[in-house]
Amino acid sequence: MEELLAELEARRQKVLAGGGEEKIDKQHQAGKLTARERLALLLDEGSFMEIDQFVCHRATELGMKDRELPGEGVVTGTGTINGRQVFVYAQDFTVMGGSLGEMHAAKICKIMDLALKTGSPLIGLNDSGGARIQEGVAALNGYGEIFKRNTMASGVIPQIAAIMGPCAGGAVYSPALMDFVFMVEGTSHMFITGPQVIKAVTGEEVSFEELGGAYTHGSKSGVAHFVASTEEECLHLIRVLLSYLPSNNLEDPPYISPTDSPERICPGLRQLIPVDPNKAYDVKEVIRSIVDDGLFLEVQSQYAPNLVIGFARLAGYTIGIVANQPRYLAGCLDIDTADKGARFVRFCDAFNIPLLTLVDTPGYLPGVDQEEGGIIRHGAKLIYAFAEAVVPKLTLIMRKAYGGAYLAMCSRSLGADHVAAWPTAEIAVMGPEGAANIIFRREISQAPDPEEMLQRKIEEYRRNFAHPYVAAALGLVDAVIDPALTRSHLARVLKALLHKRENRPAKKHGNFPV
Ligand code: HXC
Repeated sequence: MEELLAELEARRQKVLAGGGEEKIDKQHQAGKLTARERLALLLDEGSFMEIDQFVCHRATELGMKDRELPGEGVVTGTGTINGRQVFVYAQDFTVMGGSLGEMHAAKICKIMDLALKTGSPLIGLNDSGGARIQEGVAALNGYGEIFKRNTMASGVIPQIAAIMGPCAGGAVYSPALMDFVFMVEGTSHMFITGPQVIKAVTGEEVSFEELGGAYTHGSKSGVAHFVASTEEECLHLIRVLLSYLPSNNLEDPPYISPTDSPERICPGLRQLIPVDPNKAYDVKEVIRSIVDDGLFLEVQSQYAPNLVIGFARLAGYTIGIVANQPRYLAGCLDIDTADKGARFVRFCDAFNIPLLTLVDTPGYLPGVDQEEGGIIRHGAKLIYAFAEAVVPKLTLIMRKAYGGAYLAMCSRSLGADHVAAWPTAEIAVMGPEGAANIIFRREISQAPDPEEMLQRKIEEYRRNFAHPYVAAALGLVDAVIDPALTRSHLARVLKALLHKRENRPAKKHGNFPV
């Protein structure tokens, strides 16, 4: 037995050494941790249990016959995060660049199957040169198997991808099929075709960082949901994100008994809305005032900042927040905000996370770019996502709620379960300026002083329509509240709605506008 145990230990040590000291040094010099160091930081201490340590490739072509690849270039297994089970894989760049061959993919697929069968979150730490060139179509097939499983698991278990090195070509589609993509500044890159190929085909010159770095995907493409400045921060953020989420679609998110009283008054909110309706304020101040302990985990903070999305807790329960941000583009809706909001709403709905929508939007962003870019079909996503969602839906109208944007921001007609409004709310087909110009055009043009008449009509319209009471009279607003009581009001409503059940007609699936 002792001999056998010694052999087991020797084999184990070989795998634990990965690509060897030299490659590990190179990894560290590049500012990156190894796969095992990453897992140690991600998971609760001592909780990692490795699976498939001894899997080997079976390629023979192009010098692969005698090549040993410890662990097949990927470390897979299970462990806990804050005491809850998760399944993980971490590609090992020190072993043949973490390239994905047939058996590397098989290891990942086994972990995905276990995550799905046990209803546990899946976390993939990506650091790979992509499809292992020597294995050809067998490697490609491996990616296909992973994509299929990503799709099957979508809406069943949370799937989180961290990009901690290169992620190129079709390989990017596994993270893209998952729920959240994390990137690290300076060391992670994602692109379909790299700088050399782009230069050869289009003549454009671009660096790795500009093309597919964390800044690009965090602020321009919207591919990355979280950008961290270090790997340590990235792994910590994944733990924080998971603290808001259920392990699967059949569970509720974790309840954290609040130390911040749900009845806490927020007097600052009375002064937050500027008297001038054209002046901006920061909606994140509203969010931080309302939620437990002022803690808000913002998602896609740099992308489409005119809509703010993220997770928080209210009275101890996880909520997903969707809020217009008047500080950017006056909080109007556009193509990118519709994409951003719709995907987030669908995630929350899939994972039983109640939605709180904070409304202050003048409408859709006008422009040829927007029309040609398809604001019609993109804008439809937000409407579809809110209308489709069956989780408790709470809406707070803070100020402007005009036209189609009023409807799209989880209005009563899209199925909001409770709509509250501040006395500063303006709910109408359009803003007073636009409305007065249209309906009083003749009177204004015939007046001795058209400008004076326009201002008078704007004021008249504002007095008669730019308030919450017309909507309240129709029951489209359930309560007009003192802003200082927003937290307590919403906390009570949330508790009342927690056990909401709503069904939809049976169907294979809807045709979500894309
Ligand atoms: C086999 C690979 C590899 C790959 C890297 N290696 N990528 N081996 N298949 N795809 C190996 C290298 O030969 C080297 O082996 C080791 O990994 C480390 O690579 P280096 O080049 O030394 O590292 P670095 O300088 O950091 O550069 C990393 C890199 C570069 C930028 C990722 O290796 C690279 O450009 N690789 C090719 C990327 C690529 O084109 N992949 C295919 C993408 S298409 P040794 O033995 O020297 O240590 C794709 C299709 C997926 O993936 C389709 C899915 C549908």
